[in-house]
Amino acid sequence: QIDVCLTPELLHLHTVENTIVVVADVFRATSCMVTAFAYGVNSIIPVATIEECRDWQERGYLAAAERNAQRVDGFELDNSPFTYMDEQIRGANVAMTTTNGTLAITKSRSAVKVLVGSFLNLDAIARFLQSERYDVMVLCAGWKGRVNMEDTLFAGALVDRLKDSYAMAEDSAIMSWRLYCQGKDNLPSYLANSSHIRRLQRLGIQKDITYCLQHDLYDVVPVLRGNALVSMQV
Ligand code: MLT
Repeated sequence: QIDVCLTPELLHLHTVENTIVVVADVFRATSCMVTAFAYGVNSIIPVATIEECRDWQERGYLAAAERNAQRVDGFELDNSPFTYMDEQIRGANVAMTTTNGTLAITKSRSAVKVLVGSFLNLDAIARFLQSERYDVMVLCAGWKGRVNMEDTLFAGALVDRLKDSYAMAEDSAIMSWRLYCQGKDNLPSYLANSSHIRRLQRLGIQKDITYCLQHDLYDVVPVLRGNALVSMQV
């Protein structure tokens, strides 16, 4: 079956063991990660705190740190997918901390597998899961414990792609799916006025929004191996 956890605050109510968890932070952490792998990054270590990220930076990793949608001083990379469309990224090992996305990944460690999902790699994730025997749970990163629309819509999109192979576990899966069915024909306008879009727009970040809502751009499936995300061949 496929389950949806609408925010990491509710994770204790869901079962992660024996489950493949797909973490989604559409704006923008998981869209960044997917883009980074599409542009040839070797690995990404997701960490919860700025201090841990600095430790990896001191060991020679490229480091990305974001809080409240802005780059933290002293780090090379910010949290825009466009930052990763660069030759210096090819083959690099990156350490990354973000307000919600990397935190959600670090909270999922006891799952059978942790995958990184976004609209950009929706089809690759769906194809990979078609051939798996485990239950699936989408973990929406949300915003500081709150539910958000964009991650819920991604969950609904994955439910939609998998609905012939996986039963919807409970109402959170049905709700996400219905929301996606309602909004899918024009996600940018369906999401207008949502919280993180307003937050990003206040910071003048518009092109990331349009970019992150594109479906099926990249054939990559990032998976957590030990403490690092790597790109799995599908
Ligand atoms: C996060 O992890 O909270 C987000 O990616 C924030 C952002 O848009 O930079």
